[in-house]
Amino acid sequence: MAARKSKQFEWSHKHLLGLRELTAEEISFILDTAVGFEQVSTRSVKKAPPLRGKVVVNLFFEDSTRTRNSFALAAGRLSADIIEFTKKDSSVSKGETLLDTARNLEAMGIDIVVVRHSAGGAPKFLSRNINACVVNAGDGFCEHPTQGLLDVYTIRKIKGTLDGLKIAIVGDVAHSRVARSDMWAMNKLGAEVTFVGPPTLMPARVDELPVKVSYCLDDVIDKVDVINMLRIQFERLGGNPFPSIREYSHYFGLTVERMKRAKSDILVMHPGPINRGLEIESEVADGKNSVILEQVTNGLAVRMAVLFLVNQAAAQGN
Ligand code: ASP
Ligand code: CP
Repeated sequence: MAARKSKQFEWSHKHLLGLRELTAEEISFILDTAVGFEQVSTRSVKKAPPLRGKVVVNLFFEDSTRTRNSFALAAGRLSADIIEFTKKDSSVSKGETLLDTARNLEAMGIDIVVVRHSAGGAPKFLSRNINACVVNAGDGFCEHPTQGLLDVYTIRKIKGTLDGLKIAIVGDVAHSRVARSDMWAMNKLGAEVTFVGPPTLMPARVDELPVKVSYCLDDVIDKVDVINMLRIQFERLGGNPFPSIREYSHYFGLTVERMKRAKSDILVMHPGPINRGLEIESEVADGKNSVILEQVTNGLAVRMAVLFLVNQAAAQGN
């Protein structure tokens, strides 16, 4: 069993819908729980029993490589059974709604629904209408909480703390659920977050968010401890937010040249999938400051912690 840090703290959420609604203490508690789960993946038998007899559904209405497989592996390592649902080969093509889909799966006796959907609020809607635990695996451009958690987990693991760190989140902030979840978690854990990008890719009412804003990557590159590069969410763009891809890369791409002005121990992050040569040059993505694959590795322990905690909260009648 994973060893949890003993704090006088009881986790009470049977759903994980976003990081906005969590306190710093709750976020740290998930990270501490994940630390205990990291060692399960290093054993020769990579299994722990806490979800034995439970059924987890991966309910994915959008494509995914990292999140879906990571949740599947996390559920398996906790000994749960896992059902894989993807929109493409389901009865959604026959007109079945999200709620009917979830209710039918629930009728088979599922315990946890991990849902990704292009509609913001879909996980919250499900959580109000089904009895199973709901974990948000990305909803529209609202939140991607487990990505936010694995990002702060990775930073904390390497830097020791987020308190006082300066972090830039660069690119298509407007359409990024990762930027939002990161912002909430990083801010709550004491980091100073700067959104960097062209004005056309900044969220509406950005001045109301707990971030600084810069429209010039060259102004911030030498000041930050962590830089998180975002993919342009072409699938969510309406219209043309910048004149050309080449111009975007010139001003907002993380290039080898730009990295020469960065702190020597800067952490280079990216949630993936990467568009090499667009938001980040290959040499930087694969370079010595990059922790992109460590983020993916850490995602497994974080998702084990999340599945474990929501299931525990449900078992306690929350
Ligand atoms: N994979 C992340 C997401 O689903 C980031 C991205 O797709 O750019 O939000
Ligand atoms: N980072 C992330 O969510 O990747 P996927 O879209 O591949 O799941």
